[in-house]
Amino acid sequence: MILHKLSLVTNSNHTTNVIIGSNCILESLQSHSLSSKRVFIITHESLLTTLPIDINDILKNACNSDCYFIFVPDGEAAKSIDSYSYCLNQIFDIGVERGDTIIGLGGGVITDLAGFVASTCLRGIKLINIPTTLLAQVDAAIGGKTGINHVTGKNLIGSFYQPDLIINDCATLRSLPKHEAHSGFAEIIKYGVINDKPLFDVLSSQAQVLKLYNFEHNETLWLDIISQSIKNKIAVVEQDEKESSLRAILNFGHTIGHGIEALFDYNTYKHGFCVAFGMCAATYIAKRKNFITGDGAETIYQILRLYDYQHILLKPIKTTALLHHMGRDKKVKDSKIRFILPTDIGKVILSQDVTEDDILSSVAFIQTFFRGDTP
Ligand SMILES: NC(=O)c1ccc[n+]([C@@H]2O[C@H](COP(=O)([O-])OP(=O)(O)OC[C@H]3O[C@@H](n4cnc5c(N)ncnc54)[C@H](O)[C@@H]3O)[C@@H](O)[C@H]2O)c1
Ligand SMILES: [Zn+2]
Repeated sequence: MILHKLSLVTNSNHTTNVIIGSNCILESLQSHSLSSKRVFIITHESLLTTLPIDINDILKNACNSDCYFIFVPDGEAAKSIDSYSYCLNQIFDIGVERGDTIIGLGGGVITDLAGFVASTCLRGIKLINIPTTLLAQVDAAIGGKTGINHVTGKNLIGSFYQPDLIINDCATLRSLPKHEAHSGFAEIIKYGVINDKPLFDVLSSQAQVLKLYNFEHNETLWLDIISQSIKNKIAVVEQDEKESSLRAILNFGHTIGHGIEALFDYNTYKHGFCVAFGMCAATYIAKRKNFITGDGAETIYQILRLYDYQHILLKPIKTTALLHHMGRDKKVKDSKIRFILPTDIGKVILSQDVTEDDILSSVAFIQTFFRGDTP
């Protein structure tokens, strides 16, 4: 069942069709009339048995193309130059033409990698994303940022490349481990804070249901939340695809968040948890600088508590090392760290006036906020 059909149209007039539904991959591929001679599916081998869908069967019924699976390691390790070369080697060994298609089936790791492979193979072949984590559905698979990691830092090699089709099938989320859903959910809270008070209010009022992450029993609510999140991302990307201005608001929570992710070598905290740390820190800074007044900051802390992020233990942070990692982050412009700070629920500003003292004091605050107490 297809519930929502959205589209993202860039300045250069490329249209990405975005489907949101349940058990909708076959129908979506059929209506897309995939006419490529070859389809390369980049995924993790384990997902073929974990996902509650039969992708082989779906592809058999959806198209007459020759389908080839390309398996890469699970986890962030797949966003490497080695995996990237491996994918291209496989593709060139099989043979590829401009009209062929790459499908990225998996979480954000896969959609980032598959997107980069598609964008560089023969200077760009067709790309379809089938994101299967909450984080990838609401964020990574949409917007055209693709990339892999370099030893110097995360996502340092990449491109802007828009897929032709994105299929968000809520049924695939049924096998998603709860902590993965919990991590991805932070990006949904982010949309509420930066741009969408009505969404924020729904997240607050439906917390007891949503925090079960039961994508089967509460499917209609989830489809609406996912769809609303994607609409927020589309609205931003359509206005500023290459992040020259407005798109930076999507980095709310990511300035300190990415710093913490890097500090712990990307292997301690899931991306979404770092975004939760970062949103809390940015809110503290906004309050300290009087950008957010009244009970605004408390409302943001409260939603983080409502969704149990305070139960994640934030290990002691060496602030000098954190600052060093933040300095390496792509959000640094002209040596100044750019912060997205909330001014109200649904409103943010970009500030370049955050001092080292602000950052250190926000880190002290989040060390007490994310205490790791068991519920
Ligand atoms: N391009 C962008 O705009 C953008 C935005 C946000 C994040 N990202 C990137 O996304 C990546 C993180 O993505 P992620 O959180 O989805 O992690 P991930 O892709 O590593 O997936 C998390 C885990 O879930 C498993 N999995 C995936 N779908 C599943 C399912 N339906 N059922 C059971 N298991 C499933 C995966 O095999 C993996 O082990 C990071 O590399 C980050 O940089 C990119
Ligand atoms: Zn993110």
